[in-house]
Formats: sequence, C-alpha cells, structure tokens
Amino acid sequence: MAGVCVIGLQWGDEAKGKLVDLLTGQFDIVVRYQGGANAGHTVVAGDKTYKLHQIPSGVLTPGVMNVVGPGVVLNPPVIIEEMDRLISQGVKFEGNLMLSDRAHVVLPWHIAEDQMLDKTATTDGESIGTTLRGIGPCYRDKVGRSYAVRLGDFYRDSFRQRIAGIVEAKKKMLAGISGESVSLDAAAICDEFHRYGERLAPHVGDTTAYLLDAVEAGKRLLFEGAQGALLDVDHGTYPYVTSSNSSGVGVSAGSGVPGRWIEKVIGVIKAYTTRVGGGPFPTELKDDVGSHIRERGREYGTTTGRPRRCGWFDAVAARYTARLSGVDSLSLMMMDVLSELPQINVCVAYEVDGVRTDRFPSHADDLRRAVPVYETLPGWQQDVTRVRRMEDFPANARSYIDRISQLIGRPVEVVSVGPDRQQTIFASGALSSVT
Ligand code: GDP
Ligand code: IMO
Ligand code: MG
Repeated sequence: MAGVCVIGLQWGDEAKGKLVDLLTGQFDIVVRYQGGANAGHTVVAGDKTYKLHQIPSGVLTPGVMNVVGPGVVLNPPVIIEEMDRLISQGVKFEGNLMLSDRAHVVLPWHIAEDQMLDKTATTDGESIGTTLRGIGPCYRDKVGRSYAVRLGDFYRDSFRQRIAGIVEAKKKMLAGISGESVSLDAAAICDEFHRYGERLAPHVGDTTAYLLDAVEAGKRLLFEGAQGALLDVDHGTYPYVTSSNSSGVGVSAGSGVPGRWIEKVIGVIKAYTTRVGGGPFPTELKDDVGSHIRERGREYGTTTGRPRRCGWFDAVAARYTARLSGVDSLSLMMMDVLSELPQINVCVAYEVDGVRTDRFPSHADDLRRAVPVYETLPGWQQDVTRVRRMEDFPANARSYIDRISQLIGRPVEVVSVGPDRQQTIFASGALSSVT
C-alpha cells in the first residue's frame, strides 16, 4: 500500500498546499492529477511565500520527485513562468519534475473561449465565474478528441499541421460565439508553443508507467488534490463546478494509479467556508462577520486575486464530501481566523421548502433554496496562533474541533493556526500510519 491523498472538502483553497508541503518529507513522489493553472496553492516557509499553480507543492522539498499526471490540463507559458519564479526563490529543478506526455494542453483558443463564455449566463442567469484559465474548454476538447492537443504531440512531426487545422476550426467556432471575427495566427502559435515545448522537453515523459513502476517498487506517493470536492464536475454543485473530478474519486483516473494502492485519504477543511465565483453557498455571510473572516483570513484568490465569499462551516456539505472522497481523517485549517468571534455557527442540517434534511442536494437550484439550520458554539476569543499542542487550545476551541469531527464522523488529525509551517499541530499518533 503506497499512496496518501490530500483532498479539499469544500470549494477549494482549504490550504491543501500547506499540508502537502508539511507531509512531503515522508514521501518519495508528490503527484498532481487534475486541474491546472486554475489552482493556486500557497506554502509559507519563514519569510518566503511560494505560490504553486501546476507544479506539485512537493517541489519545495529537495530529493522528492514531482509528477504532473495525465489528468492535469497544462498551460505551458504559465508553468514556465511558475518554474522561473520558483527558481528565483531558490528552488532547483534537477530531475525532480516530470510532466505527463498524455496531459492535455491549454491553448490560446481555450482561454479566449473561457473569457467569452463566462460573460454569458449559465442556466439560471448567474455566471460560473471561472478563473479564465481555459480549463473548461480544454477539458471539453479532451473529451471531444477532435481538437485536442496533448503535451506529447509537441514532439511529433505532425505538430504544425495539427495546430494549423485546429486553428481554422477554432476561428469559426469563436466567431460563432462572439459574433466577431477572431484573430488566431497558426504560424505564430506554432512557433511560440514550439519554444515552450523545447524548454519543457527535459521534463516530459510517461508518468503513468513511472508511477506504476514506483508503486510496485514500494515507493511512497502523496497525491495533491486541486480545487475542492464541492467543485467536482460529477458530484459537486453543477454547473458551478470546475471541469475535473476534484473529489477523491479523481485520484486514480487522473494519475493512472489504481485505487487499491491508496492507503489513506486526508480531507482538508477550513474552520469556516469560502467560495470564489458563482453558485449556491447556503452558509454565506454577506454581513460584517463575513468581512471580518475575509480580512482576518486574507481570503483573496491566489490565482485571480478575487475576494473570496466567506461563511460559516457547513457540516452537511463536508460530511457529504468526506464520504464521497473516502476520507479517513481531517486536517482542520485556519482555526486562528475565528479567534475573535464571540459565537460561532455551524450548519448541521438544511431546511429545503420547510423540510429538514442532512442530505446534500444534487441540484444547484435545491441547494440555493436550502436554509441552514445552525448550532451555535461559544467562541474562544483568545489568540491561538502560538498553540503547538492539542491540549494547549482554549477549551472552547477544543469543543469546536471535537464538534466538527463528530459531525463529519472522522477524527481531526491536524489543526492549523497560521500560514507558517510551524503553525501546525499534529494530534498525538497522527499520521503514524504514513511515517
Ligand atoms: P489551497 O489552494 O488549498 O492550497 O489554499 P490557498 O493557498 O489558495 O489558500 C490558503 C491560504 O491560507 C494561503 O494564503 C495560506 O498561506 C493560508 N493559510 C494556510 N493555513 C492557514 C492557517 O491555519 N491560518 C491562516 N490564517 N492562514 C492559513
Ligand atoms: P485551489 O486548488 C477555489 C473555481 C472558480 C470557479 C469554478 C470554475 O487553489 O483550491 P475553472 O477556472 O476551474 O473553470 O472555474 O471553480 N475554482 C477554484 N476555487 N480554489 C481553486 O483551486 C479553484 N479552481 C477553480 O472560482 O468558481
Ligand atoms: Mg488555492
């Protein structure tokens, strides 16, 4: 048994990057397997802040291999920029990064289409509010096949011809959406992406074979989820989701590692809830408490800088996604952000059309009508940023942690009280099965 997964259980930004970075030392390989440049994972180490979008957070630990699997949609200029920024921060890329030749590539027409479509309404008038990184159009082309380009295609003689054919089709498609002619220069795009291909070439390979060899050789794998389970394209708040399986169910498909190799799944949750972009959010706070959480938690997007919508912890949603993702234990982040509040609400059920339920609705319209049923817990009103042992938390903070664990039905093994690596508490015996 070889693999441990870190999965966000809310709408993303649960501080997965921080946890992955902390656990990396216990693993041989860290794997990203879905999403793309829409992700923004932050790792704070002392006075340095690293922002990872497509490169696994394991890259900050020397001696660990970092794999970007076939399920990721890769944006070459963005990954090169990301590498250069990390290099300027002292990170070395010396045989420690491998990109799947099967990964699909985000091209300029995907980004143009994402921008056009996000301006137009979805089913009920609210736009998805994507990260405008071309994620949805690229995944759609992957499934559609006819207009898809994979990283391995960059190194084939047919590359230029393939791009030229796709460009002609995309010009017509984009003009059809926007009503205006769209300029895409096939030769210029080929030249530009050929350069990117050359730069990335030393890192490109068959990651599926590499990972299968690794698990059979007894290597230890850490899977780094992107987004959160509520954004899962099949099981999330559709259509207000991303275009990949961002819950635990996506690990195998996106990496090529069979589920039977997965030993443990850690669900990451914030002590409250945030969401960026459109879509229903039953516990959203549009008042001063919401603004307080946003400012205290610095809840602004890592990728887009957008203010994140903030609200109370939603145990109905988190219980659903913990079950869906096969979560064994929880990592509860941002406990420090709630420190000043005299009272804290936790959503324990919904009322939909007057009927109480603890089921997470499958349709966004029903979730939109869900009225949260709250349980109110006393706040701790004490700074917890220097707490380093579970027993040192104020009694009300411990009660809060216990209540969340009870509502989700999983133990809390890790608690985070600030962005820094040091500001993390591991329950005694926690993660012992992965050490
Ligand atoms: P990810 O996408 O899940 O990796 O999360 P992001 O990096 O987008 O957002 C999490 C943010 O919270 C980052 O800015 C982290 O540095 C920060 N952070 C992580 N853990 C804590 C914590 O316990 N308390 C506070 N205040 N900030 C934290
Ligand atoms: P990390 O990995 C938070 C959201 C967008 C939008 C929806 C669809 O940092 O947790 P997309 O560009 O994927 O088509 O946008 O998904 N979204 C995220 N929200 N964290 C993320 O990643 C996200 N990636 C996408 O805001 O609502
Ligand atoms: Mg993020």
